[in-house]
Amino acid sequence: MATDRAPPRVELVSIDPDARERIFRWYQDPELVAPFDRYETEQYSDFLESLEAAAGDPRSLAPRYAIRKRSDGALLGCVGHYLAHPVLEFVDVWYVLGVPGERGHGYGTEAVGLLIDRVYSEYHFERVGATCDVENIGSARLLETLGLRREGTMRSALFHHGTWHDIYVYGTTRAEWTRLRSPAHS
Ligand SMILES: CC(C)(COP(=O)(O)OP(=O)(O)OC[C@H]1O[C@@H](n2cnc3c(N)ncnc32)[C@H](O)[C@@H]1OP(=O)(O)O)[C@@H](O)C(=O)NCCC(=O)NCCS
Repeated sequence: MATDRAPPRVELVSIDPDARERIFRWYQDPELVAPFDRYETEQYSDFLESLEAAAGDPRSLAPRYAIRKRSDGALLGCVGHYLAHPVLEFVDVWYVLGVPGERGHGYGTEAVGLLIDRVYSEYHFERVGATCDVENIGSARLLETLGLRREGTMRSALFHHGTWHDIYVYGTTRAEWTRLRSPAHS
């Protein structure tokens, strides 16, 4: 029997000036935003410029939305998406919860679910994917909880923290995502 999914406790909203500053401060701490990823420093002015440019650039790696709690508007994190390949046609998503105390409560899973909904409603692509370091258990679990399939492992695909790392590749198709998000599936 079909059941209704609980309404999300988070929403994805545009990045206002307050969120810009907080997110940039998070970006100053590589272990907060990129514990399993490459990290590059950036000036605040360049960060602001990249936020401005992101709307017109599907390849941009800049944050696209802030994650806020619906109950009180508290800023929890940010998410983004980008065209991931120069030839193949699909979008990859990424996500960061910037407040460590808010991790592990399911907010990341909800936010990434909303992000994938949004990508499918705004783009014509049939595939949405994500990659994560094989050691990033939280990220891998988040994707699997949403129902994305682990499609493989790229060996030695990303250099960070002084060494090469293996990366899991996850993905879902439009038809599969529609099924996963249908009330009958919850
Ligand atoms: C990855 C991240 C976004 C997860 O967000 P979150 O809100 O804590 O995740 P959720 O609470 O929705 O948890 C999702 C699942 O992962 C599990 N999980 C979360 N963090 C975990 C951890 N550190 N270790 C093991 N499992 C973890 C949860 O138990 C849950 O599993 P379940 O669905 O089986 O119960 C957050 O940890 C983060 O911002 N990390 C730093 C940035 C990062 O690594 N981003 C991803 C780059 S690929």
